[in-house]
Amino acid sequence: MATAQGSTGHGPIKIIQIGAGSMGRGWLRTIADNPDVELVGLVDLDPDLARRAADEAGHQQAVIATSLDALDVSADAVINVTIPEAHASTSQQALFAGLPVLCEKPIAPTVAGGLAMAAAAEASGRLLMISQSRRYVNSFTQYRQLVGDLGRIGTVTCDFFKAPHFGGFRDAMEHPLLVDMAIHTFDASRALLGNNPVSVYCEEYNPSWSWYDGDAAANAIFTFADGTRFGYHGSWCAPGQETSWNGNWRVSAEAGSAAWDGDHEPTAERIDDHEVKIPPSPQTPEYIAGSLVEFVDHLRNGTRPDTHAAANVLSLAMVEAAVRSASVKQPVQIADVITAAHRQATADDHGPRIHAVLESWDVLEVVGLSG
Ligand SMILES: NC(=O)c1ccc[n+]([C@@H]2O[C@H](COP(=O)([O-])OP(=O)(O)OC[C@H]3O[C@@H](n4cnc5c(N)ncnc54)[C@H](O)[C@@H]3O)[C@@H](O)[C@H]2O)c1
Repeated sequence: MATAQGSTGHGPIKIIQIGAGSMGRGWLRTIADNPDVELVGLVDLDPDLARRAADEAGHQQAVIATSLDALDVSADAVINVTIPEAHASTSQQALFAGLPVLCEKPIAPTVAGGLAMAAAAEASGRLLMISQSRRYVNSFTQYRQLVGDLGRIGTVTCDFFKAPHFGGFRDAMEHPLLVDMAIHTFDASRALLGNNPVSVYCEEYNPSWSWYDGDAAANAIFTFADGTRFGYHGSWCAPGQETSWNGNWRVSAEAGSAAWDGDHEPTAERIDDHEVKIPPSPQTPEYIAGSLVEFVDHLRNGTRPDTHAAANVLSLAMVEAAVRSASVKQPVQIADVITAAHRQATADDHGPRIHAVLESWDVLEVVGLSG
């Protein structure tokens, strides 16, 4: 069984990665590029795939196994890049072995599962951080700063129009855009506003030419706690004039408006006598490399990432609430989604340690919806 080493002060941090699929390969390259970490073990149900993936990324020294149980190495932390359905079992095993976990989004397939994951982190006393890689884009950081200087915000919009032909599981999903992709955009709206959503009205549909079985387009309007409205217009079967994968954003605020095309420096226009100053680019590692830097900072210095498990549940709740709203054709309160999921999680069998934490929670406060 992998054991926790617990010495992250000096030298590279010893990492075990679980999952060597397509995103797993990206993580293996990212670990290889970061001198603060070293891969000591790689776990995948397919050990041949894992060996090949490790070797390709230059991790010849990494030990391969098909489960954390079967891996005989000591380590400081785990990076979890398995499929969403496997996040709970694999992350919980790591947490209860004393290992902090950086887990790919989404935290779990359901909000109830996400709450159980957050409770597992609390019960284990270890960090569970969710990698929301699109928070780590330098021009997005500039945009956040620019928007933060425009006074009260009335409206935020994000247009997301892409036309990828993935093939495979996404083409057969019931809600491919909302469930597989929109969490990135929804999570980014929370990061941008520094605020949380309270309700959503959403319509989901499939354009007649769509090559997806399920609904590949959606329009959603979220109301945030301070009254800001966030409008999301998205389609995954929108050929021509495609937007960035980060979407095309506009903020309308008291002192003016600011736009970000998702890839380049943002722009703004102010109606007061202040000059528009575009903040300098932080020039820090982006996407999953940025996530890894924040995780290392926690391991070395004890900092708490904004995307720790309990705080990240609301991003998944935005997805689940949007899907539910589209189904019932009514606005849905995010708090109702959270409290129903908490009831479900408490009723499910997660073992006594997780159950005790779930039972002790004022769940709306824990996820950041009250107080
Ligand atoms: N941040 C992003 O932009 C982004 C992009 C793509 C995927 N993802 C996320 O990354 C994760 C992985 O996606 P992917 O596309 O690499 O999937 P994938 O199917 O290509 O790979 C998943 C791997 O996990 C392994 N696995 C599954 N269950 C396991 C278990 N119990 N123990 C050990 N290994 C197990 C599989 O054998 C497979 O090799 C998902 O959570 C997905 O949402 C994020």
